[in-house]
Amino acid sequence: MEFVDIHGHYAWGIDDGIRDLDEARAALQNASKVGVRVIAATPHVISGTHFEKDIQHFKERINELKKEASQVGIEVHEGSELFLNHDAPTSIRSGYFIPYENTKYALCEFDVRRNLPDDEDEVEEYLYSFKSHGYTPVVAHVERYFKKGIDIDRVSEWVDMGYFIQVNASSLIGTHGSTVLKNAEALIENNLAMLVASDTHKSEGRRSPATLVDAYAFISKKYGEDTAHILMHDNPLHILHNEPIVRTQVKKVGFFKKLFGR
Ligand SMILES: [Fe+2]
Repeated sequence: MEFVDIHGHYAWGIDDGIRDLDEARAALQNASKVGVRVIAATPHVISGTHFEKDIQHFKERINELKKEASQVGIEVHEGSELFLNHDAPTSIRSGYFIPYENTKYALCEFDVRRNLPDDEDEVEEYLYSFKSHGYTPVVAHVERYFKKGIDIDRVSEWVDMGYFIQVNASSLIGTHGSTVLKNAEALIENNLAMLVASDTHKSEGRRSPATLVDAYAFISKKYGEDTAHILMHDNPLHILHNEPIVRTQVKKVGFFKKLFGR
């Protein structure tokens, strides 16, 4: 399997991801080993904290990463993961984020440490800021924002607005607990998940590129290989090519089929 992994903190020394050049080399090597052929480097950009100069610095580091990655046959696209807070509309308006290179798609996230606020002013308004400036938000690890179970109707509304939904490989292998795992499954089962990525922070372990292999096996077994391929190869590549994505067509397994395994 050739993976296209468009959420990862490979650009070293600028956030809580890969620490230094040595670890970046190890992460790239491990990624290459498990079949990753294309990645996007998406360092955390914090609204209200990072400005023009920081963005330039991040881009320079991503350029250094490109040279390193080419040595192990991995193509790197630039990007960022914009943290959405009350400064997000200003950051988006001012261009203090890095969309996926040469595209109108941009990765963004909410605070994973707390439950997603019910207030539309703190969530939907920020997502809409992207749309009003001509960008499609790719919402990172949606399964992690709902501590008491996923709100499918709310996520469906985001999808109706044209936003993209990303799920973490780590969530599918249980790294963030059973609720997050169930949330991730529900997103796939409702055909709302559009891509799965590693969100790599480390060169090894449960936040590394290796999680892609286990997530691929999990999705293939439960939802079919076609689904795994769309989520981990086709759609991420469509995004990097600034193309529309395709929706999965997972069929819900009925109660009796589940019970009797047929
Ligand atoms: Fe991330």
